[in-house]
Amino acid sequence: SVMVGRSVRRRRAWRRVVRLLEELEEGCATPVGRLRQVVDAMAVEMHAGLASEGGSKLKMLLTYVHELPTGKEKGTYYALDLGGTNFRVLRVQLGGQRSAIIGHDLDRQPIPQNLMTSTSEELFDFIATLLKDFVEREEKGPITSQQESRELGFTFSFPVKQTSSSSGYLIKWTKGFAVEDMVGRDVSECLQQAISRKGLDMRVAVLINDTVGTLALGHYDDEDTVAAVIFGKGTNACYLERADAIIKCQGLLTTSGGMVVNMEWGNFWSSHLPRTSYDIDLDADSPNPNDQGFEKMISGMYLGDIVRRVILQMSQESDVFGPVSSKLHVPFILRTPLMAAMHEDDSPNLTEVARVLKDTLEIPDAPLNIRKLVVNICDVVTCRAARLAAAGIVGILKKIGRDGSGGIAGGKMKVGSKSKMMRRTVVAVEGGMYTNYTMFREYLNEAMEEILGEDVAPYVVIKTTEDGSGIGAALLAASHSASPTVDIE
Ligand code: GLC
Repeated sequence: SVMVGRSVRRRRAWRRVVRLLEELEEGCATPVGRLRQVVDAMAVEMHAGLASEGGSKLKMLLTYVHELPTGKEKGTYYALDLGGTNFRVLRVQLGGQRSAIIGHDLDRQPIPQNLMTSTSEELFDFIATLLKDFVEREEKGPITSQQESRELGFTFSFPVKQTSSSSGYLIKWTKGFAVEDMVGRDVSECLQQAISRKGLDMRVAVLINDTVGTLALGHYDDEDTVAAVIFGKGTNACYLERADAIIKCQGLLTTSGGMVVNMEWGNFWSSHLPRTSYDIDLDADSPNPNDQGFEKMISGMYLGDIVRRVILQMSQESDVFGPVSSKLHVPFILRTPLMAAMHEDDSPNLTEVARVLKDTLEIPDAPLNIRKLVVNICDVVTCRAARLAAAGIVGILKKIGRDGSGGIAGGKMKVGSKSKMMRRTVVAVEGGMYTNYTMFREYLNEAMEEILGEDVAPYVVIKTTEDGSGIGAALLAASHSASPTVDIE
């Protein structure tokens, strides 16, 4: 009868989506053995990237930051943070005592979509205008002491080839930005010119990546901090490297100490990464195909879109989502915060999932089993992201000999005395994916323990910093204007 035919069809459709879910799970699997391969690949690529220019997909960019803030920094500094979801301006007062960030004010604005693809002059005029407004608001009222020239730390979170700690040119855009005439140009100079056009008296003291700001604040708070990672709209890491390990610029580096290296790990790639057809399609449709492969599996800009693609596929191959919603064809319509909200919906009927499906994807009346299916998809995608991120972090630890294995080329540590030889190692972490997405954070920490093992894991601490990408820039502006001799030409 008609009724039987319908239920058979429904069962068949359901079986089809379950099969697709299983395929997704298989494709995204990250058993610890595979994670270890990613760890090794990361450490190997780091070596290659440090050995020669273009030696790896990891650019391992020099920052010319040799010293991290000590806590003695004093004075008022500005910071400007461009490259995340929001554009931010800060004014930070430093008291000269450890942990003496007296206060900071902040102005935050979303970057108008059209400016992300406009001209550099438009983009920087917009920035300089907001900066000037902010300075005027902050400094209104009687000026008590004579204002010295204002110093600015500029956090520009894209791959930059630095020519000094305060200058460098843009290598390429990431995270959906595409101001074409900026590529190859000096970022500080663009900003400095825009600042001058606005008649503002301010000097770009340092130009840094957001990871470097995070490392600076992390180190300011805790001296055992050796690396910093961002899990936001994009993902990236930096760490403190020994000068003699940076082979590609030997001779250039006369300092005995080290230098912060901006890995640009978003562009990391390895055949060990578990890649699905959804990843391949996402990459092909992106403005930067073949680029930022690791980032596209991990960061906030992309995770929601992977989920959208899975749901689209399921909807096309079965009718369990009803007729295919046209919204499912809209790239990036499912933002990662919505994905997180669905994933973490703990109401018995998954009402939040139903709400997002209805409001954002225009899939009304999804029955409970379909809502559960969607939660499952989110879980698979985020679990893979978090575990790969953990492997990336351990890769850094391995490169600097802090993973408990004695370094990539080093000898084995004596079993038994391992705990005596391990040093406490802190990794500063920042970004909404980590701070606002509990499941991501938990999966990441769980995977760290799995990879490191119970002897080593207790010595590795992941610590979140707050506003490091902004405050860290002010801290570095302070340390770099106090001792301007640290620049190496
Ligand atoms: C992208 C940028 C990188 C930045 C990261 C996090 O990967 O290329 O410079 O650090 O996003 O914002």
